[in-house]
Amino acid sequence: MKPSILMSLLGLSLLALTACTSTPPKPVAMNDGELPLPADYKTWPKFLSEIQRPDAKQVREIYMNPVAKKGGTAAKGFPMGSVFVMENYAAAANPDGTLKRGADGKLVKDKLLSVFVQGKNEGWGDKAAPALANGNWIYSAYTPTGDKSTASTDSCRACHLPVASKDFVHRYDEYFATQKTSAWRADQVLATLKTTRPLTSHDVVALHSISQ
Ligand code: HEC
Repeated sequence: MKPSILMSLLGLSLLALTACTSTPPKPVAMNDGELPLPADYKTWPKFLSEIQRPDAKQVREIYMNPVAKKGGTAAKGFPMGSVFVMENYAAAANPDGTLKRGADGKLVKDKLLSVFVQGKNEGWGDKAAPALANGNWIYSAYTPTGDKSTASTDSCRACHLPVASKDFVHRYDEYFATQKTSAWRADQVLATLKTTRPLTSHDVVALHSISQ
């Protein structure tokens, strides 16, 4: 083999080696107000749905990105790269000012008022006042049409700070409790069916009738 060919082969393999061993790029450093509203968040898994807040005259929907869904554990909290989106809806009111209730007793969703985003990653939130540090979490707020809202992000920090032991996520316990409940239901179905074979679509129907 000619030395020049040998050299270029060596160069190529070195290039390949560098490409394989290089660490992934660090996430862009971001602070409050800079986290964009993810365009596809409505396709994300639900964190919790139809949160009833008669005190605030609101109904809320919370979505979590697949990173948070996959990596979140009650023991360790949520991994870097997690993002939550919360839609705040006005609760519909009766003419006398009391809040409307549906046949299920729940508040009725009216207009979307605002959309809140909360995300964490390496190096995020380093410009926050130390007294308001929320780990690596940062906050953004949007109007119903997706424009940046003028809401103060310091108020987000102040109100999420008390749940620091729950990774700054207010309904942490409620969420992980619902995760356990569905695992328990799957066991129930297996016990009911007196089998350990993998679940089929028929079993899933049975699962739903048990859980109602
Ligand atoms: C008065 C306290 C308070 C303030 C202020 C506040 N939050 Fe929250 N936030 C909550 C509570 C409580 C929940 C759980 C849902 C519920 O009960 O309404 C929540 C939930 C969330 C969630 C869903 C994920 C999670 O952590 O549970 C996001 C996202 C969020 N807030 C973002 C924001 C942003 C952005 C701001 C500021 C613009 C903000 N919050 C201001 C209390 C607050």
